[in-house]
Amino acid sequence: MSVILTRGRVPRTPHTEFYSEPGILALEEIHGTCGFSGDYSRKYHYRKYPTQQVLPPHKLTLDLRPQPLPPQPLQPWHLRTGRLKVQGDVLSSRVPLVYGTSTFVYAARFERSSAADLFVRNGDGHELWFVQEGRGLLASEYGVVPFRPGDYVAVPKGTTYRVELESEECWLLIVESRRPISFAPHYLNASGQAHLTAPVVETEVQAPEFRPARDEEGLFRIWTKHGGGFVTEMFLGHHPFDLVGWEGALYPYAFHAEDHHPLAREIHTAPPTRQTFQSGTAPRDGFAVCTFRGQIEGWHPRDVPAPYAHFNADSDEVMFFSNTSYGARKGLVEPGSFTVHPGALPHSPHGLAAKRSLEERRKLSDYLAVMLDTFFEPLSVAKQALGIAEKDYALSFNRDTQGLEID
Ligand SMILES: [Fe+2]
Repeated sequence: MSVILTRGRVPRTPHTEFYSEPGILALEEIHGTCGFSGDYSRKYHYRKYPTQQVLPPHKLTLDLRPQPLPPQPLQPWHLRTGRLKVQGDVLSSRVPLVYGTSTFVYAARFERSSAADLFVRNGDGHELWFVQEGRGLLASEYGVVPFRPGDYVAVPKGTTYRVELESEECWLLIVESRRPISFAPHYLNASGQAHLTAPVVETEVQAPEFRPARDEEGLFRIWTKHGGGFVTEMFLGHHPFDLVGWEGALYPYAFHAEDHHPLAREIHTAPPTRQTFQSGTAPRDGFAVCTFRGQIEGWHPRDVPAPYAHFNADSDEVMFFSNTSYGARKGLVEPGSFTVHPGALPHSPHGLAAKRSLEERRKLSDYLAVMLDTFFEPLSVAKQALGIAEKDYALSFNRDTQGLEID
């Protein structure tokens, strides 16, 4: 779903003489993916290139790299991100939860807007946020994207941005991929338009609201994440949001989870019907992101609404529970719970959840959870997440989480 946009002023023909104002040649930049073959945007800077640093760059002590745990027994994990300390800003607050070779997941609970002269850039990965709590603006060179609870926010690798909070605190789940993140291509026709049977539609994508170019001199800091979690500070002598205009398919946007319109079935539906985003060529590599929104449960007279036990052998599965209504984990999860189910193990509903789910047949459920399945990429739990892990989560499947006796 590459919606090609034009904002501000751009020349009709790329890389031709074009002026920000009489006598000031606008400077073109291509912000692109997958070599020169993937989604890209062409940007027109007012009078200076984004390369024009005015002080030497230096590496900060801030270190966001996931730290490895000593070898652990094979087991599922339950990490409770709501128990993380609220601290810092959109970058410094990130706590790694799990990591693979291309996929990294963080939780961030923060209380500060980005400092007035400070901008953030991720040189490691494309970001997809899920907003658990908080409201504000993602401001970037492309314009402004408002966000609110329940939003996904996509931020392409290399975007220069800052976060301006309108709430006292913000709580994000942040998925980071070395590969671009897009809407699931199997919902799209050959022209890239969403099928009439897709759970997503283009008109519900919140594209950036363009703001006039900031043709300003000063000292502006950009913190770039690189090398898996190092952060380097660089200095520009001009405002980074200096675009006269841009055109293309690569830009930040928001998409609300309630705008993923679930597809129901008479009997239980497997996760691919719930897919919203993916990275790479899923299911051969990369990952799928699924939105578990409430929907009409199966209406077959003998449907079992709870999922089956599943041994999804080529996928590591992580799931972030926005609320506590998901039947298979009811009584166990809290808002912000994050479960990790390795592909080397089967997992199932907890305790008596399958039996209890028979009461839910034909009813509209109200759960909200975000699931990410990697394909052929194992994930490890980061040492930084150990303090929020539930002890003996592996044993919790053998007890009923709502207090009934298991025969
Ligand atoms: Fe699962």
